[in-house]
Amino acid sequence: MKVAVVGASGQLGSDLCKELSSVELVPLVHSEMEITDLDSVKRVFDEHQPDVAINTAAYVRVDDCEREQDKAFLINALGARNVAVVAQELGAKLVYISTDYVFGGEAQPRNIPYTEFDAPIPLSIYGKSKLGGEDFIRHLCSRHFIVRSSGLFGVAGGSGKGGNFIETMLKVAKERDELRVVNDQIFSPTYSKDLAQKIALLITTEYYGIFHATNKGTCSWYEFAREILKQAGLKTPVIPITSEQYPQKAKRPSYSVLDNYHLRLLGMDDMRTWQEALRDYMIGKGYS
Ligand SMILES: NC(=O)c1ccc[n+]([C@@H]2O[C@H](COP(=O)([O-])OP(=O)(O)OC[C@H]3O[C@@H](n4cnc5c(N)ncnc54)[C@H](OP(=O)(O)O)[C@@H]3O)[C@@H](O)[C@H]2O)c1
Repeated sequence: MKVAVVGASGQLGSDLCKELSSVELVPLVHSEMEITDLDSVKRVFDEHQPDVAINTAAYVRVDDCEREQDKAFLINALGARNVAVVAQELGAKLVYISTDYVFGGEAQPRNIPYTEFDAPIPLSIYGKSKLGGEDFIRHLCSRHFIVRSSGLFGVAGGSGKGGNFIETMLKVAKERDELRVVNDQIFSPTYSKDLAQKIALLITTEYYGIFHATNKGTCSWYEFAREILKQAGLKTPVIPITSEQYPQKAKRPSYSVLDNYHLRLLGMDDMRTWQEALRDYMIGKGYS
């Protein structure tokens, strides 16, 4: 099986490349293939003829997407379409990575995890553009897996975000007397290594469709920050604040917990808790 990983140098992409060591791997970095350019995608895929394409490439700066709407839709929606068109032409399986931010836009606040069968209502341009990508995938490539995850952290750090939340908290905790972190956005932090393992398994199946894949358990960013500092042995106080006290350009869901329902129905939901995954990350980085 020949597997092309688009966005191979990114946070998830680099973990996928490690995880897929037993297949014939085609790691594709941005300088080799521009997903917003259909000809570029065609040329590279024609050359490599992958059996599976995993598209991790995205414009992931959620706040910047608000003022750079065209860029967000070009990469996250039209770029996804280009990869889908070419994967379909080749008869390849296609994985598109999506996000919990396709949810959260209901008028009534929610506190029940979203399954794959809930209708998405995004709040932000990022969420809308990723949902646009999902729609293209569903309509244009028959052998598709849309894998939604949330709050990714990985050893490589998000290249589009310039690090990840864990690294930011550890850095700021050493520089400041206290941390103030939002306590009214609930989600499931997810280790990109664990997500990569799940994707590596899914592509060996014909269980096409939408999948939610997150580590078990939920928390707010405040609770996540506290656990990070605890595991690192840092004593800097963490103060809970509201989203209103920390205004950001893009609106975020107050609750975007994903239920790994499809995986569970298939007996494939063995994702560990986010605290265990965090411990693994911290040990891997030499922080605890
Ligand atoms: N990070 C999260 O918390 C999170 C949560 C849920 C879902 N997701 C989704 O998970 C996926 C992976 O996220 P990540 O954190 O691994 O992101 P990342 O570290 O920013 O990686 C994205 C990769 O895509 C490449 N890329 C960006 N634009 C491209 C383009 N136009 N053509 C080709 N390659 C391009 C980037 O290369 P350059 O850096 O060289 O441009 C980078 O290697 C994304 O689809 C994202 O929407 C992320």
